[in-house]
Formats: sequence, structure tokens, C-alpha cells
Amino acid sequence: MTLATKLLDWYDKNGRDLPWRKDKDAYKIWVSEIMLQQTRVEAVKDYYSRWLDRFPTLAALAQASEQEVLNYWQGLGYYSRARNLLAGVREVCSEYGGKVPDNPATIRRLPGVGEYTAGAIASIAYNQVAPAIDGNVLRIFSRLFCLDGDITKSATKREIDRLIRQNISDQYPGDFNQALMDLGAMICIPRRPRCQLCPLINLCEAYAREVQDMLPVRAPKKAPQLVVLAAGVMLRNGKYLVQQRPETGLLAGMWEFPTIEVIEGDVAAERLKAAFWNELRQSVSIKEEIFHCHHTFSHRKWDISFYQCEWLAGDALKDKACWLSSSELRSVPWAGPNHKVALWLEQKAM
Ligand code: ADE
Repeated sequence: MTLATKLLDWYDKNGRDLPWRKDKDAYKIWVSEIMLQQTRVEAVKDYYSRWLDRFPTLAALAQASEQEVLNYWQGLGYYSRARNLLAGVREVCSEYGGKVPDNPATIRRLPGVGEYTAGAIASIAYNQVAPAIDGNVLRIFSRLFCLDGDITKSATKREIDRLIRQNISDQYPGDFNQALMDLGAMICIPRRPRCQLCPLINLCEAYAREVQDMLPVRAPKKAPQLVVLAAGVMLRNGKYLVQQRPETGLLAGMWEFPTIEVIEGDVAAERLKAAFWNELRQSVSIKEEIFHCHHTFSHRKWDISFYQCEWLAGDALKDKACWLSSSELRSVPWAGPNHKVALWLEQKAM
């Protein structure tokens, strides 16, 4: 039996029953693949069903506002995924008559769609013979072929791409790719792989040489950079002052309590007071710290202190800033840990 046959037999019996495997609608596959980027399957399930209840078709999503779309994404993180997905479905409406293209190279050109996602959509929704190479697949193939190249390097990825193209099922490429995802999640796991349960045990060179625990080789990740922030929570006439982040960059367009970066040597309260005046023309007095939390992104870690602020004087707010009552705190998509503070304030008010 070939590698593909063994893998597909195993998948038929052991594949996971996941909500996005119920039909092959390319829009639904697309949504699931974007949600699953950097996010665990268990965390995605509920978001996926809520999403499809509200945006059941590509056309329904294309007509939605970005704010509403971000609200449905709230909590999943990496919000540019939601923004790109919205831009992508709109592009499919304007450029491709509302039908997701079936060619991996064309899908790849949609915003937010990388090589992996294009391969996953094309193979799962349209049965196109295209690899979908993520960390699981790199690990499985490093072990199967006993490759000791660093899997973060493009030469290693190219070699694995070649091996997958040699071994992928021409008849069931979508199932082949999904079988690899399941094998990587359940059997060929990062530590202590469950080789005795593996359908590919007899083909695995790493197993034969007893080096499966040493593979794959991966250069260590850089530790996320620590960024210290201070934010002001100002309540005036029953409403909180909130501000929208810039259109580009980390958490673009999401809402937060006015925030500054605290650089070594700064006195946080003074810098925050100055920022309220310089950016929002509000004169405030900074009171005690009321909330403190950490939030880790892939490359950065926020340490953020929220200070209560007292309003002294100020002009009317310009766009990108507004006053929200505690019952309105749920109506905006929050930037990272601001969500926790908003929920906490809302509960306090009840
Ligand atoms: N991870 C990424 N895509 C997936 C899928 N379609 N099924 C399970 N896990 C995944």
C-alpha cells in the first residue's frame, strides 16, 4: 500500500468529526481555515458556528460592516484575519462573480490567504491536487523522511513540498491533507509521538532510526518583546472615553482606552496626562491603578496598567474617539486586554 492509501484508510476510520467537514462549500472552508490559523480547533468550533449563523453565505458576509465582523471575531485574536477575510469575500464578489476561485494560485492572491490556506481551500473544497503545508505537516514529513534541516528555512520547506507532491493522493487530495492535519494533531504530535498507533509506522524513517523525538529541527523562536503600556479609564457623566487604534499596524482599527507606551525613565501618569491633552484635548487628573494585565502576541508582550482618570476640562471629541455608556461597552471590537477591562467595568455597573 502507498503512503496515501494507508493514510486515507486511517482517516476514514479515525478522522475527526469537525463542524467544517460537513460540507464542501468553499466559503465555509475558507472561514474555517482562516479561523484555524494560529488557533486551536477546540477554540474555533463555537466561533465557527456563530459566524455561520450570522454570515451563512459569502454574499451575507460581503454586505456586513467591518465593525460587526470584528465583533464576531472578538476573542479569537489576530484581527487582521477578519479584516482580510471580509476584504477577500468582497473581492470574490467584485472579481469572480461571487464564487471562490478553484485554482490554488488564484485563491492565493486573495487578501489574508497564504500558501497553506490556498492549498487547503483548493484541495478540500474543489479536490485540487495542492499541498497544504503547516507546522503539523512539516513535522510529519521531517519524521517520515528523517529530514534534519531546520523547518523554518525555505530550503527545508521546498524539500517537503516536493515530497508531498510525490505522495499526495490524486483522487482525494482534500482528504489526504486533512488526514495529515489529524495525524499531526492526534498521533504524530510534537512530543512523545504515538508511533504504535500510526498508520505510517512502517514507512517512517525516523521511527526506524529511533530519532522521532529529535525531529523536527527548528531554530528557537525569539522571545516576544516586552512593551509596557499605561491606559486611562475616564468616566464622565456615566460614559467612558474610548479611542480607535490607527488603521494599520497591530490591532488596527480596534478600540481601546487611551493608551501610551511607557519608556524607561517615564513617569506613566505624567505621560498619560500629557497624551490625553495632546491627542484628545482633554485635561485629566490621573488617579490610582485599577486594573493590570498581560497580553502576549506572537512577537510582543504587553504589560498594561489601567489608571482611573478624573475629567477636569476638555473640547468635544473628534472622530476615532467617543464616549460609551457601560451598556455600550460591548458594541465595539476591543483591542486585546481592553476587552477584559470593558467586561469588568460593565459588570461593576450592574
Ligand atoms: N487546522 C487547519 N485546518 C484544519 C482543518 N481543516 N481541520 C482540522 N484542523 C485544521
